[in-house]
Amino acid sequence: MCGVPCGPDGAAPAELTPADLTTARLALRRLELPDAAFLAREGGRPEVARMVARIPSPCPALASEHFVLATRAAEAIRGDLVRLITWRTDGAPLGVIGLHPHGDGVWELGYWLAASAWGRGIATEAGAAMIADARIRGIERLIAGHFSDNPASARVLIKLGFAYSDGGSATDMFSMGRMARAAHRTMALHIGPQTG
Ligand SMILES: CC(C)(COP(=O)(O)OP(=O)(O)OC[C@H]1O[C@@H](n2cnc3c(N)ncnc32)[C@H](O)[C@@H]1OP(=O)(O)O)[C@@H](O)C(=O)NCCC(=O)NCCS
Repeated sequence: MCGVPCGPDGAAPAELTPADLTTARLALRRLELPDAAFLAREGGRPEVARMVARIPSPCPALASEHFVLATRAAEAIRGDLVRLITWRTDGAPLGVIGLHPHGDGVWELGYWLAASAWGRGIATEAGAAMIADARIRGIERLIAGHFSDNPASARVLIKLGFAYSDGGSATDMFSMGRMARAAHRTMALHIGPQTG
């Protein structure tokens, strides 16, 4: 038995660093190698993996361990901002959210939650915190996308202020969770200083 508050994998909540974020209900912290078990188990479920581009289903633990290490390298090299979404109360993991540089000052927002966490406003709350942090960092334009058969993610992005930037046309994108291409929509959000 755990003597301190712990997540489902038995790990004590990690120490928050200055780079981490908190919201009313959530703590968003950097990924650590022990998080790989959660990432593989929950991210690899078909209902999650089919809605993102690069998670296989099932997801081997080794793939998640590589994801954590590659993410930490991308943070050091390119400034990516990737955080594990956890409950603020006990540090239990809920999902992942990240901002990735896309060139020309544009950053891409991506996220997923374990299915047991859906429907409680968590993605919107975590997304709003990431956007506020991006604004503080001087990022001016965000993009994000969702597969056309993912109305929940479309709704999250609209609640966060995103608007479609693809002229109304879907483009096929490969999903490793489906091992197939599927129609995908692109959205954008200007968060920089107002012009004009
Ligand atoms: C998409 C996802 C992140 C949403 O997380 P969440 O915490 O449940 O999202 P929120 O509760 O903040 O908001 C979901 C919104 O979608 C709505 N919604 C949910 N299912 C819906 C559906 N089938 N059709 C239309 N709207 C739907 C909810 O009602 C809610 O809107 P509301 O607040 O106006 O009522 C989560 O379902 C998930 O991780 N899915 C699998 C991975 C994924 O899709 N990642 C995003 C890739 S682009």
